[in-house]
Amino acid sequence: MKKKNILITGGAGFIGVNLTHYLLSDPNNNVIVYDNLSRKGVEHNLAWIQSLKCKNLAFIKGDVRDYIKLKEVVEGIDEIYHLAAQVAVTSSVENPVDDFEINAFGTLCLLEAVRRKCLNAILVFSSTNKVYGELLHLELQESNTRYAFTGDKKGISEQENLDFHSPYGVSKGTADQYIRDYHRIYGTRSIVFRQSCIYGQHQYGNEDQGWVAHFIIKSLLGKKINIYGDGKQVRDLLEVRDLINAYMLAVKNIEKTQGEIYNAGGGIKNTLSLLELIFFLAETLKKEIEYELFPWRPGDQKIFVSDNTKLEKDLSWKPNRSAKDGIRNLIVWIKDNIELIKNVST
Ligand SMILES: NC(=O)c1ccc[n+]([C@@H]2O[C@H](COP(=O)([O-])OP(=O)(O)OC[C@H]3O[C@@H](n4cnc5c(N)ncnc54)[C@H](O)[C@@H]3O)[C@@H](O)[C@H]2O)c1
Repeated sequence: MKKKNILITGGAGFIGVNLTHYLLSDPNNNVIVYDNLSRKGVEHNLAWIQSLKCKNLAFIKGDVRDYIKLKEVVEGIDEIYHLAAQVAVTSSVENPVDDFEINAFGTLCLLEAVRRKCLNAILVFSSTNKVYGELLHLELQESNTRYAFTGDKKGISEQENLDFHSPYGVSKGTADQYIRDYHRIYGTRSIVFRQSCIYGQHQYGNEDQGWVAHFIIKSLLGKKINIYGDGKQVRDLLEVRDLINAYMLAVKNIEKTQGEIYNAGGGIKNTLSLLELIFFLAETLKKEIEYELFPWRPGDQKIFVSDNTKLEKDLSWKPNRSAKDGIRNLIVWIKDNIELIKNVST
């Protein structure tokens, strides 16, 4: 079989290292991880993946804002997964210029490199549900533990209006639209995934990003959890291996998927509110978990649930892992690595 050269920007990060691990299992894949290691803790992900001693893995320490370097690196590449990003809404509010440069300008640098050096490469981009904004027009009902849609609405589809909110929402949304437009204007073979909350092993969650892992870590360490808002905000959770499965199907069916945008999340069956996760952890870990409420953070949606119909229809994709099983699995990984995680995430 023909060898494939694959580039993963942000390949040392949470989603990136899981994807790298998956792709390395095929000896026909040569995988290059391109990452500037700016996210705290990801050096451990890199050390882990390198410890597997796969001959088909290469690491390049690099920045997505470095256009000259990107142009060299993409030469001869067949597939690109663009995951590198500044990922926290909070940091984007503190430093919007950095956020813009990494997420928007960095993506444009990559697109230009692809246009000049490997126009035929397949490009998968990890966008976010934050491009739909706060969704204030939705009619919601409120119970003791959560918000819910009224009527029979199952989720948010790709037809929802774009309404970038927060510098992170704007910079990722800009990148999302550039990726789409480079397909229209220059014919890049790209696919955009607007992802809900992704969770799983190798995620060093903290208060700014990666809330599922963060809540588990705090709970295991017996520390108080800060909740911004009333805790009833609902998210649909998607286990990282299910996301990777969606990426693989999209790449395999590139003639159908290029230029398309897909919402990808756990869907209505895999939703939890922040309070519900705390209650689930208290029950599973058999301990009391202390939490405190603080004011809402900018752009925080009261509810986001992905309507996955387009992914299901085009690619026969469905999440395979239930949120509760996935969380139990993540608890085991965090317990096994708690000493290391303690130093990174708290
Ligand atoms: N995890 C989620 O729930 C989620 C949800 C929606 C979208 N996303 C998107 O998925 C992608 C991956 O997210 P993640 O959860 O794995 O985050 P992560 O922070 O674990 O990974 C991002 C990686 O990018 C690297 N990076 C940051 N700036 C860089 C730069 N300038 N040049 C090169 N590398 C750089 C970091 O060092 C890190 O390894 C991001 O684009 C994020 O916006 C994630």
